Amino acid sequence: MEGFRCQERYGYVWVALADPLTDIPEIPEVADPQFRQIHQFYEVWKCAGLRLMENSFDNAHPHFVHQKSFGLVSEPVPPDLDSFEELEYGLQATSVLPVFNSDIQKQNLQMTEDRTVRILESTWFMPFSRKLKISYPNGLVHIIFTGATPIDDQTSQVVQFCVRNDSEAEVSAESIIAFDRQVTLEDQLILEGTDYDVPLDLKEEQHMFTDKPGIVMRHKLAALLKAHGEVEVRRGEVVG
Ligand SMILES: [Fe+2]
Repeated sequence: MEGFRCQERYGYVWVALADPLTDIPEIPEVADPQFRQIHQFYEVWKCAGLRLMENSFDNAHPHFVHQKSFGLVSEPVPPDLDSFEELEYGLQATSVLPVFNSDIQKQNLQMTEDRTVRILESTWFMPFSRKLKISYPNGLVHIIFTGATPIDDQTSQVVQFCVRNDSEAEVSAESIIAFDRQVTLEDQLILEGTDYDVPLDLKEEQHMFTDKPGIVMRHKLAALLKAHGEVEVRRGEVVG
């Protein structure tokens, strides 16, 4: 019988179908007693993992896609990245995003102000996982981990949990899940309308400056395929 490497971490089972190139993504806050972990969802999305990843790092989309939940559609100029670093198997970017506070967010963030900023530190773990660390000016930290495991070219098994440095007595997990659910449904609506056949070649799609992380993702995935003697296989092409 064939066996696979398998580990439990963060309440999930991680399976490597071949020798893994990297360790499981590090989310040290899960083990930090100042933080609590909240499982959010585990479900199938009809989109490619790379679309989900590039969307996560795109600072131009919240103003429009999330205008009902936190995006300031009246101030749609996206912020620049404050830092950007390529990692061996991923990348990391930081920025500060102005947002509005809906009633549920005022409660979840324990804020009375109508707007605030998200201090963002985003990490991409190749190929299809990300950690989004959101720090607010009042010291609250809300970390979202999202992983998209490919089922086939068009479909991903998406898991999401969050880690926060507050308590259930302050903010209920139910309220936190409800807000992040609203946000992810807004993303899902757009992402399920995108073409799953994401080209790694930059000439096929138009890009703007906020797409820099997505462009580096394409470069790094293409380089990884090349380093392992593989090539990108597009829709309609036959493998091998
Ligand atoms: Fe989004």
